Amino acid sequence: MIPAITSMKDAFSLQGMNAVITGGNRGLGFGIATAYAQSGANIAILCRDKAKAAEAIAELEQYGGKYKSFDCDITDLASVRKAAAEVTAEFGDIDILVNNAGVSCFNELLNMDEELSDWYNVLNTDLNGTVHMTYVFGKLMRDAGKGGSIINISSNAAFIVNKTQPMSPYSSSKAAVNHFTHCMACELGKYNIRVNAIAPGFFNTELSKFIPKDQYEYINNQMPLGRFGEPLEVGALAVFLASPASAQFTGTVEVIDGGYILSC
Ligand SMILES: NC(=O)c1ccc[n+]([C@@H]2O[C@H](COP(=O)([O-])OP(=O)(O)OC[C@H]3O[C@@H](n4cnc5c(N)ncnc54)[C@H](OP(=O)(O)O)[C@@H]3O)[C@@H](O)[C@H]2O)c1
Repeated sequence: MIPAITSMKDAFSLQGMNAVITGGNRGLGFGIATAYAQSGANIAILCRDKAKAAEAIAELEQYGGKYKSFDCDITDLASVRKAAAEVTAEFGDIDILVNNAGVSCFNELLNMDEELSDWYNVLNTDLNGTVHMTYVFGKLMRDAGKGGSIINISSNAAFIVNKTQPMSPYSSSKAAVNHFTHCMACELGKYNIRVNAIAPGFFNTELSKFIPKDQYEYINNQMPLGRFGEPLEVGALAVFLASPASAQFTGTVEVIDGGYILSC
């Protein structure tokens, strides 16, 4: 059993915890990495872009923990296994896994190429990548016997059909990630591993730069809170879900989207 908190002192602290964040080199992943570093965690970033990873690590250095990046393609189970061995050798046991890395595509199904490349690319990354990481790091967490927290970055697109951009592979994979979260919460609870998901709406990152200006404004107008979110705001929620304050949380999908899905 995971003990309940008895005081708010340090309830939101990640001091000394080891966190793995896929795609922590930029966008929402870097927002999560920043929030984690500011909350006391050591961080292993798993991604492919080495230059962007080096920039992210250099930014994090100011917070005084241990930060390193590891080359990893989450669509490739062998690559995930290799990265896991390297991370463990460097950090020891892992307390937190954030499955953040993801891709999208804006294309209607019937307009896709003969190989359905868009479909398979998104599903292989957003769903299968999350499964690969959970399989490999989940076993390490189980065998270490210390419990842990797994946080899957989903999307509010799992709940709605996005009217401004056709994105069926993305919405479908994120809906699957949500139910994978429910299933894993039930399977891993006996190891004191909690599994939750965050479903962000519209945030200012590289992905959102591709949204045409008129659509950007339309989305802001639809949203009760009237603005795109910032990556650190997802980071704050990810800190809560990794911290002792959320010890009784598992199997939840937390929507953070300025109220967009209520009013779109
Ligand atoms: N931005 C939003 O408004 C928004 C809204 C809802 C949900 N989300 C979700 O939040 C997550 C992050 O999105 P973002 O906007 O921050 O995206 P982003 O800026 O485009 O960054 C994507 C990240 O995923 C990594 N990645 C992609 N494919 C990978 C692979 N095969 N192996 C390893 N790493 C891979 C990239 O690493 P490299 O740099 O090495 O390529 C990069 O760090 C995604 O899951 C996305 O679906 C975003």
